[in-house]
Amino acid sequence: MASNGELTILRLTIAFAAAALLAGGAEAQCLHSCGDVDIPYPFGIGSGDDCALFPGYKIDCNNNRPFYLDVEALSISLQLGQMGVMTPISSSCYNTTAKNMDSTMWGFNLSGTPFMLSDSNKFTVIGCQSLAYISDPMSNYTSGCASSCPGATVVSATNGTCSGIGCCQTTIPKGLEYYKVSFEESMNTSGIYNTTPCSYAVLMDYSNFTLLNSYLASPLKFNTTYGGRAPVMFDWAIWDARDCVEAQKNHTSYACKSDHSVCLNYSSGAELSAYMCNCSKGYQGNPYLQGSNGCRDINECEHPESYSCYGECRNKDGGFDCSCHAGTRGNASIPGGCQKNFLTPKAQVAIGVVAFILSILFGFLGWEVIRHKRSIKRQALLRQNDEFFQQHGGQLLLEMMKVEGNAGFTLYDRQEIETATNNFNKTHIIGEGGRELFTGQC
Ligand SMILES: *[C@@H]1O[C@H](CO)[C@@H](O)[C@H](O)[C@H]1NC(C)=O
Ligand SMILES: *[C@@H]1O[C@H](CO)[C@@H](O)[C@H](O)[C@H]1NC(C)=O
Ligand SMILES: *[C@@H]1O[C@H](CO)[C@@H](O)[C@H](O)[C@H]1NC(C)=O
Ligand SMILES: *[C@@H]1O[C@H](CO)[C@@H](O)[C@H](O)[C@H]1NC(C)=O
Ligand SMILES: *[C@@H]1O[C@H](CO)[C@@H](O)[C@H](O)[C@H]1NC(C)=O
Ligand SMILES: *[C@@H]1O[C@H](CO)[C@@H](O)[C@H](O)[C@H]1NC(C)=O
Ligand SMILES: *[C@@H]1O[C@H](CO)[C@@H](O)[C@H](O)[C@H]1NC(C)=O
Ligand SMILES: *[C@@H]1O[C@H](CO)[C@@H](O)[C@H](O)[C@H]1NC(C)=O
Ligand SMILES: *[C@@H]1O[C@H](CO)[C@@H](O)[C@H](O)[C@H]1NC(C)=O
Ligand SMILES: *[C@@H]1O[C@H](CO)[C@@H](O)[C@H](O)[C@H]1NC(C)=O
Ligand SMILES: *[C@@H]1O[C@H](CO)[C@@H](O)[C@H](O)[C@H]1NC(C)=O
Repeated sequence: MASNGELTILRLTIAFAAAALLAGGAEAQCLHSCGDVDIPYPFGIGSGDDCALFPGYKIDCNNNRPFYLDVEALSISLQLGQMGVMTPISSSCYNTTAKNMDSTMWGFNLSGTPFMLSDSNKFTVIGCQSLAYISDPMSNYTSGCASSCPGATVVSATNGTCSGIGCCQTTIPKGLEYYKVSFEESMNTSGIYNTTPCSYAVLMDYSNFTLLNSYLASPLKFNTTYGGRAPVMFDWAIWDARDCVEAQKNHTSYACKSDHSVCLNYSSGAELSAYMCNCSKGYQGNPYLQGSNGCRDINECEHPESYSCYGECRNKDGGFDCSCHAGTRGNASIPGGCQKNFLTPKAQVAIGVVAFILSILFGFLGWEVIRHKRSIKRQALLRQNDEFFQQHGGQLLLEMMKVEGNAGFTLYDRQEIETATNNFNKTHIIGEGGRELFTGQC
């Protein structure tokens, strides 16, 4: 039998184990998807502290459907910093028994959350005797839209356009955090309750929604398209710093954790108020996470539909090279940009070598020709010298010298004379008379 003390210790141990299990379980139960919807960090589902960047970034998952503050989330985009949600449509219908307008009006307060209303949403009113307002009491903002259905002109409206006939649309400013719908009670549908007893008003996003003419002919259809709800776009950002410069000062709290991420200033309305992270150009993934979970290089070559290359594609960090295939050249980034080279590189090399050899050969030949010509000229000169020698009795003189031995004078070569007279320099001439004497002797 265990004593009381032992029992207490056992109970304590069990309690500790359970607490540890719970904590561990919570840690492990941080989910990043709910049903078909991805919930990427900085958002998360679970109670762990690291599950989401801040408590306000936690999403609930009920029956495989993600919810944020009771509105169902359809998608979260990291690249655009947006979250698509479904919000209820407000309505106002004539009650024939009470003889008044029964209105269900809807709105929400996003103050203190990472979200605000995207200015891509449009406030839309559908009805035939309708005036509705959208207002944000926190920023003193109010706007309205009225629609009516004069006669049968409804059918002439085109799908997707809202012209005030059965439908009215207005844009909203950037930075709204609160919105509330209200109907103008004096615009009641008592006169037309047989055909269109209800008016509808909602803030909605049109990226996935087309207004059909059939909504104008029968406004109830508008309410039933998504089961009384309409898609709305929220913008989100990181609010712990005013802008990127301030955010980057604190390395621990800076949310752009990936090595290949960039920071974007986020402005709600006039002034900067928050920041966002995005992957650098050429990278994709989650800029809010480190390492391999963060931004990774895009292999552009595997996605020719987005990164066109009409030649040889080579992926590199943060980009890609696109060059023409061997044997072609040009701009491989444009279709038909690569043209066949007239010659292959091998042929070009061969031609280069042949041209080199030929030019050397011609050079050599030319030199030979010049040399040949020179030698011919020299021979002709020699022959001419010889002739002059003979003509002026040179040979006779030689014969005489041979016969008489020393004839009293010597026969000099032209070269010898040239050196002796320094190229017949005038200073070496022994006066005019000497020359005459010489002439006379001959
Ligand atoms: C983030 O980068 C992607 C791809 O480079 C780009 O399409 C997107 O517009 C960027 N987001 C913002 C908010 O600038
Ligand atoms: C629009 O519809 C597509 C396909 O149904 C979906 O993937 C996407 O998340 C929707 N976008 C929004 C903002 O709801
Ligand atoms: C009309 O008003 C009466 C009295 O207020 C209420 O009992 C009834 O449910 C209303 N009808 C509709 C369709 O809302
Ligand atoms: C509805 O409008 C009619 C005239 O258009 C008016 O007589 C009636 O008082 C209005 N009812 C309410 C509840 O405003
Ligand atoms: C919206 O919520 C914030 C914070 O929760 C609160 O201070 C503010 O009063 C709310 N605004 C309205 C109009 O209820
Ligand atoms: C809204 O209007 C009230 C009263 O006119 C004023 O006291 C308040 O400062 C205004 N708020 C803003 C955000 O302009
Ligand atoms: C509007 O869209 C509906 C459904 O797509 C189509 O049946 C109808 O013909 C369209 N009307 C016009 C005027 O384009
Ligand atoms: C609109 O649809 C919702 C959901 O089906 C329903 O609860 C609501 O009563 C409808 N509103 C009108 C005015 O029909
Ligand atoms: C940086 O951020 C961390 C976490 O938010 C905070 O604890 C710390 O005090 C901040 N440091 C400075 C210098 O602001
Ligand atoms: C963000 O805004 C600040 C001014 O508040 C500016 O100095 C900085 O260059 C901006 N950063 C980016 C990335 O746009
Ligand atoms: C190739 O064509 C693209 C698209 O026209 C152009 O942007 C690029 O500068 C061109 N590249 C070269 C090397 O001419």
